[in-house]
Amino acid sequence: MVFFSGFALCAAFAGTGALQIPLLSSHNQAPLGHPHGSKPVVNSTELQDLISGDRLMIRAKKMYEIAKLGEEEYNHPTRVIGSAGHIGTLSYIYEEILKLGDYYDISNQTFPAVSGNVFESRLVLGDQVAKSAAPMGLTPPTKDNEPVHGDLVLVENEGCQSTDFPDSVAGNIAFIKRGVCPFGTKSENAGRKGAVAAIVYNYEKDSVAGTLGTPSPYHVATFGLSGEEAGPVIEKLEKKKRFDSIAYIDAEVSQINTVNIIAQTTEGDADNCVMLGAHSDSVAEGPGINDDGSGSISLIEVATQLTKFNVSNCVRFAWWAGEEEGLLGSDYYVASLPEEENAKIRLFMDYDMMASPNFAYQIYNATNALNPNGSEQLRDLYIEWYKDQGLNYTFIPFDGRSDYDGFIRNGIPGGGIATGAEGIKTKKEEEMFGGKHGSWFDPCYHQLCDDVGNVNVTAWVVNTRLIAHSVATYANSFKGFPERTKSVASSAYEKDVKYHGSKLFI
Ligand SMILES: *[C@@H]1O[C@H](CO)[C@@H](O)[C@H](O)[C@H]1NC(C)=O
Ligand SMILES: *[C@@H]1O[C@H](CO)[C@@H](O)[C@H](O)[C@H]1NC(C)=O
Ligand SMILES: *[C@@H]1O[C@H](CO)[C@@H](O)[C@H](O)[C@H]1NC(C)=O
Ligand SMILES: *[C@@H]1O[C@H](CO)[C@@H](O)[C@H](O)[C@H]1NC(C)=O
Ligand SMILES: *[C@@H]1O[C@H](CO)[C@@H](O)[C@H](O)[C@H]1NC(C)=O
Ligand SMILES: *[C@@H]1O[C@H](CO)[C@@H](O)[C@H](O)[C@H]1NC(C)=O
Ligand SMILES: *[C@@H]1O[C@H](CO)[C@@H](O)[C@H](O)[C@H]1NC(C)=O
Ligand SMILES: [Zn+2]
Repeated sequence: MVFFSGFALCAAFAGTGALQIPLLSSHNQAPLGHPHGSKPVVNSTELQDLISGDRLMIRAKKMYEIAKLGEEEYNHPTRVIGSAGHIGTLSYIYEEILKLGDYYDISNQTFPAVSGNVFESRLVLGDQVAKSAAPMGLTPPTKDNEPVHGDLVLVENEGCQSTDFPDSVAGNIAFIKRGVCPFGTKSENAGRKGAVAAIVYNYEKDSVAGTLGTPSPYHVATFGLSGEEAGPVIEKLEKKKRFDSIAYIDAEVSQINTVNIIAQTTEGDADNCVMLGAHSDSVAEGPGINDDGSGSISLIEVATQLTKFNVSNCVRFAWWAGEEEGLLGSDYYVASLPEEENAKIRLFMDYDMMASPNFAYQIYNATNALNPNGSEQLRDLYIEWYKDQGLNYTFIPFDGRSDYDGFIRNGIPGGGIATGAEGIKTKKEEEMFGGKHGSWFDPCYHQLCDDVGNVNVTAWVVNTRLIAHSVATYANSFKGFPERTKSVASSAYEKDVKYHGSKLFI
């Protein structure tokens, strides 16, 4: 890299830690040791060139050490909200940005989050253990955390109205079809009618990994069940056969406070911000180095390298908490924006899982037809960049599985890239990206093995460079990018979306 000497001096200082630099500030106005005027305007190529795999990996190892703080309570490394591993992650992010001096304003946004833990569960239908039965996220336990007995009672329609529930569900187990309304509504309706548990069976063959969403005092212990297992049961229930069943969920739902960290450049037009985010938390099952240690670290690294440049537009970085519990942090953030603050965010870019070991370069298929105007321009920026690099890419559904959801629902254009979670790589994708077809993109998705060995550094560097490109492009100019309009919800998006985070909610 060739930089003029004033700049090289600045880079050297940034590398040694900004906290020492004020010593030199006596003959300069800015605390960073030189006037901002000596910084070049951000240039995408130069910012991309500053991204290094070694630096990303040093941070990944650090994050794994932080996840180990969770061992005492969880018996394994984790960065789940409320754990010492997550608190350590928050301190790490905060400290790393603080080191960058007055380039950023940092703020903490504290919010209440619910977190669910299922310790044990079992569902027996008649004399069969239901193999596909999965307790819903944020389900309450069965009474006294003990098994409950009851007859299965078939609920009419989709159980979205209390009139769908026959009186005989009282003291029994409601058997409800998936669809039309959220799982939480069905569970609540069952609870109001006195059911001791509820089962939501799928209209498709597959099982249901769902969440009840925001807790309600009327929720009852609720399982998802595959359509395949439900089929024969429904046949018998329709013939008025009795199904004496046992439901058991030992679980707890707790409420804690956690924190979103937001860092915004002090320079740049504060009425026109490019915003990007990654989630700071992991699931309870593991350390979450790919999900989403990778995105969190990419953002720290881009934020660090950006300080070597001057920006025209404001850049706002976010590290969300509670993503794994159902996008809690990003939802809270967007919901608490007054209209005029909402309007200052020109677009939001989501960076969740940047380095899956069996990766594909995936772009969210966010079009203007279904999403706020500008989403498609962002999608096209990613397409152009992969094309310029001679790399293949695929489109994936923009369906509410990550933190962009709240932005789209509130009229802010958005998009992002990913490298794949529990999806299976096809033969064609193996030709396009290498790796192994027939396996998950991330074989350690939401598991203990999502550790330092669970990242592909090649993919991580490629995607962090693309993140740098997206930041540099919009930090420089919004020329040709649609103006913001009112924060109207997109009904087309809402109609199609069935996920809220990694779990289905409807
Ligand atoms: C940084 O960029 C802004 C906007 O282009 C400009 O007004 C300002 O003078 C620049 N500052 C420096 C220190 O170059
Ligand atoms: C950005 O930097 C590269 C490499 O230094 C240079 O070739 C290019 O012209 C610069 N782009 C702009 C728009 O200044
Ligand atoms: C913000 O949160 C971080 C991480 O928990 C903490 O280290 C820092 O002290 C907090 N800062 C303020 C001003 O509360
Ligand atoms: C992307 O979304 C648009 C609009 O919904 C759709 O027409 C198109 O088929 C999608 N493309 C892919 C490759 O999924
Ligand atoms: C892109 O995919 C094609 C197969 O569709 C493959 O032949 C080519 O090698 C891939 N390019 C790269 C850079 O992996
Ligand atoms: C990362 O992916 C590249 C491209 O598929 C592959 O060549 C490399 O071996 C992978 N690295 C690791 C550590 O798996
Ligand atoms: C989207 O933005 C473009 C460019 O600013 C504009 O021409 C177009 O009319 C906008 N579309 C809608 C539906 O608002
Ligand atoms: Zn994630």
